Amino acid sequence: MSEERNDDGAGEGGDETVVRRDRFAGGPARSFLSSLADDERIFAADLAVDRAHVVMLAERGIVDRETAGEILAALDDVEDAGHEALPDGEDVHEAIESAVIDRVGPDGGKMHTARSRNDEVAACIRYRLREDVLELVEALVGAREQLLDVARAEAETVMPGYTHLQPAQPTTVAHWLLSYEQALGRDTERLLDAYGRVNRNPLGAAAFAGTPFDVDRERTAELLGFDSVAENSMDASASRDFLVEVTSAVATLATTLSQLAEDVVVMASKGHVDLDDDYASTSSIMPQKKNPDTLELVRGRTGDATAGLNGLLTNLKGQPRAYNRDLQRAGRHAWDAIDSVTDSVEVAAGAVATADWPAERLAAAAGAGFSTATGVADLLATAGVPFRTAHEVVAEAAAGLGPDEDAPDYEALSAVAEDVLGDPLAAYVEREAVEAALDPAESVATRDSRGGPAPDAVADQLSTAEGVLADHRDGLTDRRGAVERARDRRRTEVDRYV
Ligand code: ARG
Repeated sequence: MSEERNDDGAGEGGDETVVRRDRFAGGPARSFLSSLADDERIFAADLAVDRAHVVMLAERGIVDRETAGEILAALDDVEDAGHEALPDGEDVHEAIESAVIDRVGPDGGKMHTARSRNDEVAACIRYRLREDVLELVEALVGAREQLLDVARAEAETVMPGYTHLQPAQPTTVAHWLLSYEQALGRDTERLLDAYGRVNRNPLGAAAFAGTPFDVDRERTAELLGFDSVAENSMDASASRDFLVEVTSAVATLATTLSQLAEDVVVMASKGHVDLDDDYASTSSIMPQKKNPDTLELVRGRTGDATAGLNGLLTNLKGQPRAYNRDLQRAGRHAWDAIDSVTDSVEVAAGAVATADWPAERLAAAAGAGFSTATGVADLLATAGVPFRTAHEVVAEAAAGLGPDEDAPDYEALSAVAEDVLGDPLAAYVEREAVEAALDPAESVATRDSRGGPAPDAVADQLSTAEGVLADHRDGLTDRRGAVERARDRRRTEVDRYV
């Protein structure tokens, strides 16, 4: 049963190419020319585009009602038969047209009045890409929800924070994860923003130079759920920057995911996270191994996305106006990138959501390598010592300490203070305060500036993130609703004819 139909259609599928007759039937290059197999991805889109176009042609009196009805009934039938039943053709557009002519007779060829495959394929790509973008946004919204859940649960789980891969300052699992949630939020925003430029109607541009027929481009936009019309007919047929924008957003997202994956891989190597078995793999030879393969594949798939972006830009860069067959190879880069990364979003979030964060081990590691040093310097600065001088005192105490070694204790710090400042620590700060600064959890709790890791600051970030996420979820629902309303509208119109 078709997506767009209410009734059951039956009919015979044709298996002959009737659009081209004998000429250009294709010699040795026949399969080289054809995109029919790849075009399965836009099969449903092409049927929607055909329906909107034929309804508009009938409304404008360009095609009579009866012929329109026959064409629209044939399209239902073609849809039921499925992409695999299409006759041979250079592409899905030609094959569907042949299939319609098979069923209707020569008048079926009126379907292609006032259009070209150039505006047709551009409409199909935009139509399908729109769905893919929304599916990716849905995956992102779900993933961010999962990260927020973990952040809520691990708001007090202290862990080491790194710069240059060296222990730098203690933070929390929540604060670390929120850093990725924020980035994924921007990735979502970029996709939603690009969506607005994808969702424009190129139909009616014809080959590139418009048409003498009195077409109604707003009407096909409405029937297809496009927000507006891609104005200039040459631009409408030729441009694929909407594909670049989406693929670029996808590559950026893949980079975010890759960084998250890399963090988790490093954490797993130190025993700072215990992945669920479902997201790990083992070695075929070393029995003790539990490897973070899923995350490594997330990291690896960034290559698919950046390759897609590169491939697409390279495909487009040399193309003169207005249409060249190179364009037939443009879409695949975007499809590959988007498919690869949509799966990555789900797997990366699943791995994080099901992992265990060993609080004790993380807390012990959080203080290693004198990661509380900045807090001690801050404390001295609070007591009036210029921060640069305080930095010097603590640096002196840290000199020669390895990344796994414990921080110097109060006595050792005080001795250095006396050396550098002329007075022991007690002259500036209470012993208790120094000891608190040396404690990773207390150190985190003091860093309560906006956006910081202290649990209170994290609670504020969580509620802001929830608000942004709710907006994105609404944005998704709105766009989905508009697409569904257009589909219903189209079906209602089609039903007036069939
Ligand atoms: N399959 C073609 C594509 O994907 C459709 C457009 C063909 N247009 C043409 N002028 N040959 O771009």
